[in-house]
Amino acid sequence: MIQSQEIESDKRLRIGIAADHGGFMMKEFLLKMLSNSNYEVIDFGNSVLNKDDDYPDFVIPMADAIASGNLDRGIAVCGSGVGACIAANKVDGAKACLITETFSARQGVEDDNMNIICLGGRVITEALAAELVNIFLNAKFSGAARHNRRLAKVAAIESRKSET
Ligand code: RB5
Repeated sequence: MIQSQEIESDKRLRIGIAADHGGFMMKEFLLKMLSNSNYEVIDFGNSVLNKDDDYPDFVIPMADAIASGNLDRGIAVCGSGVGACIAANKVDGAKACLITETFSARQGVEDDNMNIICLGGRVITEALAAELVNIFLNAKFSGAARHNRRLAKVAAIESRKSET
């Protein structure tokens, strides 16, 4: 299992984390793991396990904070990771993806500038979640022209929305 001590960063990144009841236990686990790291971690809730809560109430404020530049990266957890991902991507500037394996945890950042990793608290183990988060937080966008070109085409959809 990846331990928090292995998480290193050359800059003190500001990381948000958010979860509904389906991701609450995994959020608590990841918060503990990250507590000894070099990251500043902001918990967007839920702060208690409430089986009636709704993931948009925690994920959207975190995605807003990323879109406005107040956070560098985000971790969103719900039961499957799907709802959290759909919700986060409604926010312009959020680039969220449900990640279940290590290749995409890295390449999603390097090629696609993914800024929110979504995890299924009822789907993957804590050990895998730790590894995926570690890879995600340590990966950097390549800035390659072809990737910027593709991302500009995605961003164009956001301006199209605001024109209507
Ligand atoms: C909540 O029961 C569950 O639907 C939610 O956590 C998530 O899995 C949605 O995608």
